[in-house]
Amino acid sequence: MGIFDELKAKCENCTACSLYKTRTNCVFGTGNENADVLFVGEAPGEKEDLSGIPFVGAAGKLLDKFLYAVDIDRERVYIANILKCRPPKNRDPLPEEEEACLPFLREQVKIMQPKIIICLGRISAMKLIKPDFKITKEHGQWFKKGNYLMTAVYHPAALLRDPRKKEDMLIDMQNIKAKLDELSINN
Ligand code: URA
Repeated sequence: MGIFDELKAKCENCTACSLYKTRTNCVFGTGNENADVLFVGEAPGEKEDLSGIPFVGAAGKLLDKFLYAVDIDRERVYIANILKCRPPKNRDPLPEEEEACLPFLREQVKIMQPKIIICLGRISAMKLIKPDFKITKEHGQWFKKGNYLMTAVYHPAALLRDPRKKEDMLIDMQNIKAKLDELSINN
C-alpha cells in the first residue's frame, strides 16, 4: 500500500471528532496524487458523504464548469476538503472538528508537495491562508506561504446562492490558469 493509501485508510477509520458517528463515507480527496495544484474546499455535503468523492453535488458541478471554462483538467489536479466527514445538515465546521481533521490535509500536502493551493471559499481561506481572510475583498489575490503559492476563490455554493459573483469567479479562474501557464504547470 502506498503512503497516500495508508493515510486514506487511517482517515477512513478516524474517530478524532464526533463526525465519524454520522458519516456514510470519509471523503479523503480525489484526483492526481502527484498534482502541482491542490483545491481545498470546506467539508463534504450529502452527495459527497454518500459517494466518498468531493465536489460531486450541485456545487461540484458548477466547479467543474469553471474548470472546463479555463481548461483545467479535474483529473490532473487534486481536490480535497478541510473536513473529511460531513457536518450534520451541512453546518459550518466547528473549530474542534477543523483541528481534529487538519492533520490529514497537512499530511496530504506534505506528500503531494503541490506548487499552488487554491482555497474554495472563506472557511478554507481562513484556515489555510490567514484567520482574518475576507473573501469578498481578497479573492483572487496571491499569497506566498512557505513553499506554496496560495489563493482563494468564491466557494461554488456561494455562486449558486448569488450568481452575480460568477463574473469574479471566472476572472479569478482565468488568472489562476494564467499563473499555471506562467509557471509551466501542466494541467
Ligand atoms: N462543498 C465543499 O466544500 N466540499 C465538497 O466536497 C462539496 C461541497
